[in-house]
Amino acid sequence: MPEHQMAPEKEKDVLIRMVSGARRIADALKGYIGDVRVISHHDADGITSAAIICKALAREGKGFHLSFIKQLYEEDIDALSKEEGGLIVFLDLGSGQLDLIQDRLISEGKRVIVADHHQIQGEIVSDSLMHLNPTEFGIEENISGSGTAYLIARAMSPENKELSELAVIGAIGDSQMGSIGPHWGLIGLNKEILKDAENAGKIKVSKGLRIWGRTTRPIHKALEYSVDPYIPGISNSESGAVHFLQEIGVNLRDENGEWKTLSTLTKDEMEKLTTGIIKERVRDNHENPHWIFGDVYDLLDKNGIKDANEFATILNSAGKQNMGHVGVALCLNDKEYFTMIDEMLNKYRREIGKSLRWLEKNMGNVRRTENANYVLAGSKIPENVVSNVVSIAHRSRFLPDSEKDKPLFAFVDSDRGETKISARLSDDAVEKGLSLQEVISKAASVVGGQGGGHAGAAGASIPKGEEERFINSIEEILKKVSENQNEETGTTEGINDGREEGEAGREEAGEKAEGQEGVQEAERKGLVRYFGA
Ligand code: C5P
Ligand code: ZN
Repeated sequence: MPEHQMAPEKEKDVLIRMVSGARRIADALKGYIGDVRVISHHDADGITSAAIICKALAREGKGFHLSFIKQLYEEDIDALSKEEGGLIVFLDLGSGQLDLIQDRLISEGKRVIVADHHQIQGEIVSDSLMHLNPTEFGIEENISGSGTAYLIARAMSPENKELSELAVIGAIGDSQMGSIGPHWGLIGLNKEILKDAENAGKIKVSKGLRIWGRTTRPIHKALEYSVDPYIPGISNSESGAVHFLQEIGVNLRDENGEWKTLSTLTKDEMEKLTTGIIKERVRDNHENPHWIFGDVYDLLDKNGIKDANEFATILNSAGKQNMGHVGVALCLNDKEYFTMIDEMLNKYRREIGKSLRWLEKNMGNVRRTENANYVLAGSKIPENVVSNVVSIAHRSRFLPDSEKDKPLFAFVDSDRGETKISARLSDDAVEKGLSLQEVISKAASVVGGQGGGHAGAAGASIPKGEEERFINSIEEILKKVSENQNEETGTTEGINDGREEGEAGREEAGEKAEGQEGVQEAERKGLVRYFGA
């Protein structure tokens, strides 16, 4: 059963088990004497995870030493083994390297905590390794690294309830907003954590147009950059967006000459806008023209940064530009650092924009096979933005519709002299049983590289020069998966030819989501009933 359909009793059981694991880790942290070594992932989820754990440690009067990394390499583990100190905490990473952690760290007398949500590779054989990962309980998506870290902080002290806000931001940063049918927003365990944040007065949830840049982007820019939802003739076209707004009678600027944003529109203007968008989507025969709304999350205490989605992007921009510590300071409301946001974010956006323009121009050179699409970008897309670029390209219409359920792989030069690969797969293809994490980690190991991640978003590093062998290996694996899927369904068609099936599947998911939504609304009370305080 796909995870978003997890029955309430099952979810309760999972939470009870996760909370029990979190308590064990919380006790170890509270009982430890000395500075705790914290290593976290350099994206929004990793930064929020680190802010949660470091704040919780500080509350206990504990010292810590925090570093951000883009990936956990063997040499990072070796370097940690040589450091003093006995307790290492890995956040939002580590589950893919359990064997190395035990071989090189536990064997040196260290104790290790891993709080992660990535796919597990290796086996736990030592009691000195404490591991908390929702995938062990069958949860693939709806709790992030920061949600896992939050459970630990929550187990350390009820005061840490307020850190739930950061767990919500981390989940949003990890794209855990579910687009099930017409419903868009956090689901599953994330929604339980969200309830904590609402109860703590940190977040307000409402329904709205789910377009990025609600509070910071001029409306025409927000529309131009909106690839999901896609607005035909307007997405990817600034002039199209300006023209559209003129046509529906919404001014771009307010009476003071300032750019209006989605959050400053009047009710009447918002209605014109949403009706106009739906009309454009109808005109283009879009499958579900009205699927443009969703939950929007207002942050109530982040020094004027109001939108949780935008805050997550700010954290990502910090992490990807080696400023993870700035991200943590922002998470913890250190006012001084808020003045750095504009410059940091603009630089990051410019870099992504430049890469997207290159990619759009060079889409003709994408290597297209029956099973996948491969972008060989070399130095044209910087390593620190490739994952954003490939996510956007995969969601948007850079490729024809026929390709939308095939994985998209981008290959770029890494600063370690290797090739970094970032790959994405549609929700529909994941639902049919394909896991990019499995495919990519198998193919990477064939060529002496390393890979991991999630079913729909995975990455790898491979030695330079091994790209062709890696692609061949991916092709072989994907072909086998496709043959197996066809055998199971008894069809002779390729996996990407099941258009009708896909549509039926989506409808079904929509219906189920509606049923589930009802249950969730009635059920969500926050985590207090699991922690007892
Ligand atoms: O870098 P990117 O965002 O594409 O990575 C997608 C997922 O794959 C992330 O969850 C990341 O942690 C994981 N990954 C990995 N090993 C790599 C690169 C990425 O496990 N070498
Ligand atoms: Zn994460």
